Amino acid sequence: MKNILITGGAGFIGSHLVRLMVNKYPEYRIVNLDKLTYAGNLANLKDVENKPNYVFVKADICDFERIREIFSDYQIDGVIHLAAESHVDRSIRDPFSFAQTNVMGTLSLLQAAKLAWDGNFDDKLFYHVSTDEVYGSLQSDGGFFLETTKYDPHSPYSASKASSDHFVRAFHDTYGMPVKISNCSNNYGTYQFPEKLIPLFINNIRHNKPLPVYGKGENVRDWLFVEDHARAIDLIFHKGKVGDTYNIGGFNEWKNIDLIKVMIKVTDRLLGRPEGSSEKLITYVTDRAGHDLRYAIDSTKLHKELGWEPSLQFEEGIEKTVKWYLDNQDWLDNVTSGEYMNYYKEMYNQ
Ligand code: NAD
Ligand code: TYD
Repeated sequence: MKNILITGGAGFIGSHLVRLMVNKYPEYRIVNLDKLTYAGNLANLKDVENKPNYVFVKADICDFERIREIFSDYQIDGVIHLAAESHVDRSIRDPFSFAQTNVMGTLSLLQAAKLAWDGNFDDKLFYHVSTDEVYGSLQSDGGFFLETTKYDPHSPYSASKASSDHFVRAFHDTYGMPVKISNCSNNYGTYQFPEKLIPLFINNIRHNKPLPVYGKGENVRDWLFVEDHARAIDLIFHKGKVGDTYNIGGFNEWKNIDLIKVMIKVTDRLLGRPEGSSEKLITYVTDRAGHDLRYAIDSTKLHKELGWEPSLQFEEGIEKTVKWYLDNQDWLDNVTSGEYMNYYKEMYNQ
């Protein structure tokens, strides 16, 4: 396999995966396809943009004819599909764009791959990167999501991801397309758009702005360092069983309010403030509509079958993450001001 199409490679997880693949596999050509929505930022990839095995293509996954051209131009053998609308709060305000990108966009890629590969699936693979949110919500003491857990999505975001997972399996079952799916828990780390909990709160603490905690802050999420997710995707892409699903998670559950207090402690310390002094910024606000209570992944299958395990303890990961955002205030300022949108124009002169 030589030509790998990574969609959504300018986003948070995608940029970590592109960096890993470009550096680890000089024999592959990595084609990063991204529409550069508000969430896509090519500045995330400055360190690999001049590598000979890296190509960036600006395109919309919903543009079927353009996607067909890209499959043909680059003779794509494998797809790792991450492009999506990814923020639950946005999906509550604008469900249509989630159905459009996540469902229709995935279908457009699947159909383009099917036509390009024309029934000859030797050494071909379509890998869909999905979320644990498709499984719905667990009780506070109610076990873990397994690969066999019934789908029960609640938000427009998770409904759209569940639907795209179903389409991927349908292409496997109907046309024999080799596919793989992974469902991962909440990621944290560098280059995450500051609308998601962790970078938003670090930025707000720095600027002494309120920290909007939804409801009572009792919802539980299972947090995984983004580079560990990228390593898991690489492993599953190369070694996972075709047709299979793998859950990815770090057995690292945190109640939101407890996690927020840890972030405050670390951020205060790194800013030279008395530890915990920013707790005064905590502001309880109206709960998110349909807010899932708890997500928790059982990733035993990935551990047992492929030997994957997270490399970082949470304490180390959160320290590294807070430090990065504080040291890279320019990145945050560019993203919050919208300045980063000019990077593509400067870089590609278009
Ligand atoms: P992100 O929002 O940071 O990045 C999404 C990327 O997709 C952006 O670069 C954006 O420009 C691109 N994109 C959006 N619409 C597009 C379109 N129509 N055509 C081409 N490109 C388009 O998202 P992320 O957090 O990096 O998530 C990546 C994937 O991983 C998503 O599929 C998401 O569902 C999944 N996932 C995310 C998490 C998480 O915690 N962030 C956890 C599990 C799974
Ligand atoms: P988020 O980062 O949006 O991820 P997801 O909704 O996909 O799990 O939110 C993580 C948790 O933090 C979730 O329970 C909602 C909560 N939250 C807040 O309390 N305040 C906020 O401002 C945000 C963005 C999230």
